[in-house]
Amino acid sequence: MNRDAPAFAWEFLCDPPRTASVAPSSAALARTATSPVPGSGDPVVVELGPGTGTITEVIRRRLGGRGRQLAIEVSPRLADRLALRYPDVEVICADATELPAILLDRVLVADVVVSGLPWAAFAGAGSPTLLDQLPGCLGGNGALTQLGYAATRWAPPARRQLDELCRSFEEVTTSRTIWRNLPPAVIHVARRPRRDR
Ligand SMILES: C[S@@+](CC[C@H](N)C(=O)[O-])C[C@H]1O[C@@H](n2cnc3c(N)ncnc32)[C@H](O)[C@@H]1O
Repeated sequence: MNRDAPAFAWEFLCDPPRTASVAPSSAALARTATSPVPGSGDPVVVELGPGTGTITEVIRRRLGGRGRQLAIEVSPRLADRLALRYPDVEVICADATELPAILLDRVLVADVVVSGLPWAAFAGAGSPTLLDQLPGCLGGNGALTQLGYAATRWAPPARRQLDELCRSFEEVTTSRTIWRNLPPAVIHVARRPRRDR
């Protein structure tokens, strides 16, 4: 069992819609979600909704001290845990919709955004939504990876959000179902943000 499973399950009990899953992502899912992180150079990698840090750890290993790694988590409990465990990662306790301001403050443009956010976090009450803002946060060759659950993949909210992703990026591909994850999941990889929307 993942050592963070109890903390993750507690978070789910405290706020089920925001946490969206009862268990942290598996290593298999983390590998697929982080595949666009470049193996050379000094990329800026932003993780949205890092939870207990399964994907954070894989990004960190991939970067091996290169570039910048930011993790934006809305739950103060989870953000504090993550900051303690990874002092070399810039952990920011904030809503993901603050990403444009967070990057602007640091004069950064993201090369890769890895999102473990539930789709609901993209809907937002106001406008523009997070999905409207994401292309502006990425460089021209930037990539966004988004977690989706296989069981709800064909449900109207997930289909609407995927359509929206296709409108915001020139290329969107979806991984095979990752069965070694609870629940089974897919990773959408969106590349080349459209500037003409
Ligand atoms: C499905 S969990 C994924 C956790 C982790 N990435 C993993 O794969 O194990 C979703 C995470 O997103 C966080 N979250 C939800 N809405 C958010 C928002 N609007 N801004 C930042 N984080 C958010 C939750 O607190 C939770 O940690």
